This record gives sequence, C-alpha cells and structure tokens, in this order.
Amino acid sequence: MIATTSTKNLTPFTQIPEYLQTIADYERQAEKHLPENTWHYLQGGAMDENSVRENLQQFQKIQLVPRLLNDLTQGSTEIEILGQKFPHPIFLAPIGHQQLFHSEGEAAAALAAEVLGSNMVLSTFTNTDMRQLKKDNPLKWFQLYWQGDREKSLALIQLAERQHFKAIVITVDSPHTGIRDRERRVFFQLPQKMQHPHTPTHIPLPEISADQHPVFNGLMQIAPKWADIEFIIAHTHLPVILKGVLHPLDAKKALDLGVKGLIISNHGGRVLDTSISPLKALQNIKAVVPQDFPLLLDGGIRRGTDIFKALALGASAVLIGRPAIYGLSVAGALGVAHVLKILKEEFEITMALMGTATVNDINKEYISQD
Ligand SMILES: Cc1cc2nc3c(=O)[nH]c(=O)nc-3n(C[C@H](O)[C@H](O)[C@H](O)COP(=O)(O)O)c2cc1C
Repeated sequence: MIATTSTKNLTPFTQIPEYLQTIADYERQAEKHLPENTWHYLQGGAMDENSVRENLQQFQKIQLVPRLLNDLTQGSTEIEILGQKFPHPIFLAPIGHQQLFHSEGEAAAALAAEVLGSNMVLSTFTNTDMRQLKKDNPLKWFQLYWQGDREKSLALIQLAERQHFKAIVITVDSPHTGIRDRERRVFFQLPQKMQHPHTPTHIPLPEISADQHPVFNGLMQIAPKWADIEFIIAHTHLPVILKGVLHPLDAKKALDLGVKGLIISNHGGRVLDTSISPLKALQNIKAVVPQDFPLLLDGGIRRGTDIFKALALGASAVLIGRPAIYGLSVAGALGVAHVLKILKEEFEITMALMGTATVNDINKEYISQD
C-alpha cells in the first residue's frame, strides 16, 4: 500500500510510484518521509551553505561535446581501481547513522548496493555492525573516522580486514564538525538510544587546564596527523585512501607516504563553507599526481551527465551521499536500488550519446568549460 494522505513522516513505500523518475523526484519525496529536524540534518551544510549549492552548480558550468558515429557495440561501464574490478563507477559514499532514515539503515543500503553492483563505503558511524555485511561480497570499503588514538583506530581496521573489506578510506577533512547553523536551529540531536557498534558518538577529550584552548589543546590533540596515516599504512595490508583531500600539496604528500588513492570531497559542503568545489580541486590535484593514481570524487552528483563530467576531468569513480539516503528514506533497500539504477542508466545513455564505448575513453576532449 502506498500511503498518500499525510505529507510528513510517511511510512516507507514498498513499491515505487511512477512519479519517481529522477534524483530530484526522490529528494522531494524524501522530505515527506522524514521528521523535520532529520530532513535538515540530511540536507544542510556548513554555515551559509555556499558549498552545498556550489557542489550542485559546478556541473552546470561544464558542457558536453559529443562525438558521433563511433562503434559502441562493445561498450561497458566497467572500471578497475587498485586491481579491483567494479561493474560501474557509482559508489555509495559513507553516511553515518542511517537508521535515522529507515529502520534497516545500512543493511538496506548494503543490500541495494549488492544487487546493483555498487561499491559501498561503510561509515564508522554505521548503525549496522560491519559483521552483518556479506563477507564474500568484494564491493565494500570501510571508512574510518580517527578514534582518538592509534590503537583503537587500528583495531577497527583489523576488524574490517577480517570482514574482507577491500580498502580503508580515512576521512581527514573533519577534525572538527562543521558549524551547521541549520541543524542547530532545529535542535537536531542523534537519538539517545541509537546504537553505533564500532565507535562512541563522542571520543573523550583530553583534560585541559583553564588557560588552555578547547579547540587547539583539546580536540586537535586527538585529531589524526600525517604520522598517524603513515602508521596505519604500515600496519594494514589493505590499501589506504584518504577522503576529503582538496589541496594539491596534500595530495602529493599523501602519495609520497604510500596512500593509494584519494576521494576529492568537501564532505557534501557540510564541514567548511566556501571550500573549493570538488571538480576544481580534482583538476588541480590531477595535475600533480601520476596519470593512473586513483582519484574519486563526491559532492553534488545528481545526474548521469554529472558522472560523465567528473570522469572526463579525471575521476576514476564517483560517490553519492544524499541521493542514496533519499532512496533509503522513501523505500528502504528498494529506494536505494532505484536511485542507483536511475543514475546507472542515465550514465550509460550519456556514454552512448557521447560516443564513448568504455570509461577509459572518457576524457577532457568531451567537455567544454566556461
Ligand atoms: C547525513 C550525512 C552523513 C554523512 N556521514 C559521513 C560519514 O559518516 N563519514 C564520511 O566520511 N562522510 C560522511 N558524509 C559525507 C559523504 O560521505 C559525502 O562526502 C557527501 O554526502 C557527498 O555529497 P552529496 O551528498 O552531495 O552526494 C555524510 C554526509 C551526509 C549528508
């Protein structure tokens, strides 16, 4: 049964209505399924939300220049990153606390990802224990938020290794949470009883004296540093990927330390407002790393054409954050699967119309920038 009477807090659909055809349709619908403060938590970003808007607008500044009459009969969306093959380049970004959006949370997202052949990046803040994800599905990476010290961080990585996760993504762009005014205005708080099997919601802060600074002497003491990344690389057999890198000098430094790939991201505009848009940062970073160094990108992907543009500018794959959660909120696993299917089909058709048979064929020659 599809509930249509109330316009707020609708129960999740068990079948997909015809009027949901695009990610924008899902966005509008998701709002109807969520409590108001959860909606603002999902949609919002840091401060004036310039980066949230710019993440969407960045794609509109790039135009497509199709090639015609190419033979596409052997076409494929398959990609390879760090020796791992993926059926297509659309991954699920790490999103914490997914039971806020649907009772089955990450378990539902994981099921959808498996069915659609999407690589899922599981957040440290998952409500679903990583041991519940299918061990023999290779399309899963684990995202680490630094646990305040090396021992606890490494313990989580070792658990991920035992569960056959294929890479470790360390998110490094948020040693402090963003100043999210919208969230504060609606008093958003995580439910007190919410379970996080792998991490406390707040890492205990070191004690500081009255004359010390809470940010610099407190929080920054338990924030990860480059030496910690080196330590992790030395202690795991999994490839380490850093998420949230925007500066070319950080990209070079990461590469020199043995980081195996980067996710170019401004955290969906949620951490530092007016931070550079991911597409610009991608181009800056692409210019200083070896051609085959994996650069992934997230932020603002809402259409198959956006995916094409990111790949044309040098991304190996993209991740979607909010779109997957719109799907989850609207119809659980079915909704996430439909969102992935929409983007995958849009991307395939874009490839066909652009005259590119394989992902490797996609490059800068197919786009024009203002
Ligand atoms: C509600 C929400 C929770 C998030 N939680 C995490 C997280 O736990 N770890 C992380 O690395 N990034 C997290 N992110 C950032 C996403 O991984 C991703 O960078 C961002 O959503 C991409 O932008 P998009 O939403 O426009 O696709 C979160 C984003 C949102 C919207």
